[in-house]
Amino acid sequence: MSKIIKATAPAKVNLVFEVGGIQPDGYHPVNSLFLALNLREELTLVNGETGTGVSIYVHGQSLPERHIQAVPTDETNLVYKVAQALASHHNIPTPDLQVDILKRIPVAGGMAGGSSDAAAMLVALNEFLFQEQGIARLSTAELAALGAKLGSDIPFCLYGGLAIGTNRGEQIQELPDLEFESNWLLCISNQGLSTPLVFHKFDELSTGNSFNDLGSLRITSAQELAAVMSNDLEGAALALIPALAHLKEQLEELGALRAMVSGSGPTIAALFDSAARCHEVVELLKAEGIFALVSTGPSAGARLES
Ligand code: C5P
Repeated sequence: MSKIIKATAPAKVNLVFEVGGIQPDGYHPVNSLFLALNLREELTLVNGETGTGVSIYVHGQSLPERHIQAVPTDETNLVYKVAQALASHHNIPTPDLQVDILKRIPVAGGMAGGSSDAAAMLVALNEFLFQEQGIARLSTAELAALGAKLGSDIPFCLYGGLAIGTNRGEQIQELPDLEFESNWLLCISNQGLSTPLVFHKFDELSTGNSFNDLGSLRITSAQELAAVMSNDLEGAALALIPALAHLKEQLEELGALRAMVSGSGPTIAALFDSAARCHEVVELLKAEGIFALVSTGPSAGARLES
């Protein structure tokens, strides 16, 4: 009998994204307030035929097809790298696996789509190795340490909820969840933006900013949340895709409490005070040929699903 393990993991928005000056290692210190959204990747693991290695299959109906096409299915996929990293951590050969990824998070959108897949794979493979080979499960902190080596957003996708991310964004300090459900409209650009390119533009425009104490922010309503939202990478993303500035304005005219580039962009995350208004605005945008999704936050971190 084939063993089937299913896991899901959330998308993220950076409610606050403060970015310091570039360091000698090429990375930027960041101070980020992350929120996980109920836009979840779904990953299913099944034993592969002996000797076939890791095969990855990507599909999804809720995103434009080009997002599905853009995901590599070879060893450059983060899911493949997770399989190698976890196997090497346990000193075992990389198992033969079939991995099915149901994509719901836009690709190259600044919403941690690839990192979410990696987080789901860490959780699923951790369980698979326990059930199939009796290997003791690693803790979330241990999985996060492994994930951090592969991508800065992977640890947050493991923890979910509301958290502060420092250093490269991979050092996670969990915060109590928001006590209200926040409603988001996510406006997906036709064009992707690569994270390194946006950080590079940021370096051209700025020497880096100072950091605030994000743990002391008081956020008890959508209005208070709108007032704290900020993103130091926004100027760089807008410089690379100038049309995003108009879209931001348009979303605020249509009733968003705040519309902001998500992480390194180009997705625009717009906060609304009702889910109903989000859905109305999605329809208005659709009529203009603009693709948008609706989601809510907070959402749990990567977890097994029965
Ligand atoms: O860690 P991750 O693979 O997601 O980062 C992708 C790229 O984004 C890095 O190679 C680096 O160019 C840039 N980056 C950065 N500072 C960070 C995180 C990412 O400059 N804190």
